[in-house]
Amino acid sequence: MEATRARKALIFSMLMGLASFIVIHVSGEHSPTSRFSGGPYHNQIRKMQDFRASFVRHDSVSLAPSTPPSPSSAQPPTAASSPRVYRVTSYGGDPTGGRDSTDALLRAIADAVQGPSSGSLMEGIQNLGGAQVNLEGGNYMISQPIRLPATGVGNLMIHGGTLHASDNFPNDGYLVDLSISPTSNSKEHRESSMDAQQLSSSTSSYYYEFITLKDLMLDSNYRGGGISVVNSVRISIDNCYIAHFTTNGILVQGGHETYIRNSFLGQHITAGGDHGERNFSGTAISLMGNDNAVTDVVIFSAATGIMISGQANLLSGVHCYNKATGFGGTGIYLKLPGLTQTRIVNSYFDYTGIVAEDPVQLHISNSFFLGDAYIVLKSIKGIAHGVNIVDNMFCGYDKGFEIVQLDQSNGPFKDIDQVVVDRNNVRGMNLKATLAMGSVNGNGSSWIMDFNHVLLFPNLIRHVQYSLSASGGQFPNHALRNVSDNRVVIQTDLNVTASVFITANQGVAN
Ligand SMILES: *[C@@H]1O[C@H](CO)[C@@H](O)[C@H](O)[C@H]1NC(C)=O
Ligand SMILES: *[C@@H]1O[C@H](CO)[C@@H](O)[C@H](O)[C@H]1NC(C)=O
Ligand SMILES: *[C@@H]1O[C@H](CO)[C@@H](O)[C@H](O)[C@H]1NC(C)=O
Ligand SMILES: *[C@@H]1O[C@H](CO)[C@@H](O)[C@H](O)[C@H]1NC(C)=O
Repeated sequence: MEATRARKALIFSMLMGLASFIVIHVSGEHSPTSRFSGGPYHNQIRKMQDFRASFVRHDSVSLAPSTPPSPSSAQPPTAASSPRVYRVTSYGGDPTGGRDSTDALLRAIADAVQGPSSGSLMEGIQNLGGAQVNLEGGNYMISQPIRLPATGVGNLMIHGGTLHASDNFPNDGYLVDLSISPTSNSKEHRESSMDAQQLSSSTSSYYYEFITLKDLMLDSNYRGGGISVVNSVRISIDNCYIAHFTTNGILVQGGHETYIRNSFLGQHITAGGDHGERNFSGTAISLMGNDNAVTDVVIFSAATGIMISGQANLLSGVHCYNKATGFGGTGIYLKLPGLTQTRIVNSYFDYTGIVAEDPVQLHISNSFFLGDAYIVLKSIKGIAHGVNIVDNMFCGYDKGFEIVQLDQSNGPFKDIDQVVVDRNNVRGMNLKATLAMGSVNGNGSSWIMDFNHVLLFPNLIRHVQYSLSASGGQFPNHALRNVSDNRVVIQTDLNVTASVFITANQGVAN
């Protein structure tokens, strides 16, 4: 039996999906499983308000980093009118990487942060006007995380060189740590953004806004992580190469709209097929916050490519070839059971797949799964709602791997609605879908189609459509008799020679 496409059933299911989408959406907002303060709905409202407010303010502020002060200011050539590029070598940084340059970097950043500001970004966040800390193409050794001396600043860029951790760099540190200032925190407080917030020196509820980390190589020297962004908004990580982390390459905790783009992350520097692959550890990117984006990013070694535990994150153009699933690795792990709200599009899963716990609103499309890479829906409380796994390509080696699998070790999926796994094309793997089509020919009064080898969920058929084509002059009465165990049974009142065409759908509850 070929599981071909059932256009009519699809259109029907799309209409049904549309109709019940509204219901799910509303109940989703009030879901008790939302783990972030206010939930995504309140975040949205707040962000819209913030956005409107900041829009009004921004029009008087130049965001171009290299724009010199406006000539109309006609000030004498004081510090206020000189360019705000802080060069790390001017502070004694050693661009050969031989000497510890922590102090030089911290002082350059302190000057940048204490330079003139030009009004506000968000309430309570000073606009540094595009000040730049320039690494001047140097490779600097640091023995402590690079942090900003105070929170409540924004519009600052740190760019253009390499930072590498010394052999005594703290094992739990991050080379660039956008959390709270080091003078006002303790280790415990750093762990928890909620507590840390109370210690913040800024009046904003966010620590930082619009900090750009660009054109950086970050080498954690197998001691800790690359970049940490805590409780901040609109942080941009662009064209960074982050290697040798043991914890996270990038950790985003709280806040929203950290954009990670055009970057390369890997624990070990390898180009695939690495002998030590089984030993890869760490997580390349951990998103513990909402509304972030990872676009055009390659993850070439890590136990987990991207770990997501916040909502409404968008992944696009991500290429994971970290630790193969066969060796225990995961490309993307979605640890948001009950309210996932994640989109993964245009991505490439290279021997490593996706795991989603109790997915609720998850969209995976236009992606390529190579080397028997597959998607696992992992039951926690048995919920799967609003899942689209459509229009992907899967390629394997005829080892019998199914493209979408259920992990029901914690119990079966029992609350399933609007799960659409369809229109994926498959080579050398076993197709799984929530919509299946087949035909049976024969003489007799009973036509049985077993859809178990295609249908994703066991013993679940919500809708059946069939047509019976009897040959000869016979017009039998016929009826659908049974759909148990994914077996569709059609019976006639006469013995006839007939073909029966059947479509079975698991997708929509009503
Ligand atoms: C992987 O780790 C094991 C145990 O720690 C070690 O014996 C082995 O040499 C490592 N392999 C590679 C290729 O690094
Ligand atoms: C059904 O029966 C007819 C007549 O008895 C026979 O010609 C035909 O080959 C049979 N078809 C099948 C599929 O067994
Ligand atoms: C449907 O089929 C199952 C076995 O697949 C059987 O246990 C059940 O009794 C059948 N139901 C009806 C109404 O015939
Ligand atoms: C169909 O044919 C079989 C054997 O040829 C017979 O036992 C059965 O009663 C027939 N069924 C009907 C509905 O006529």
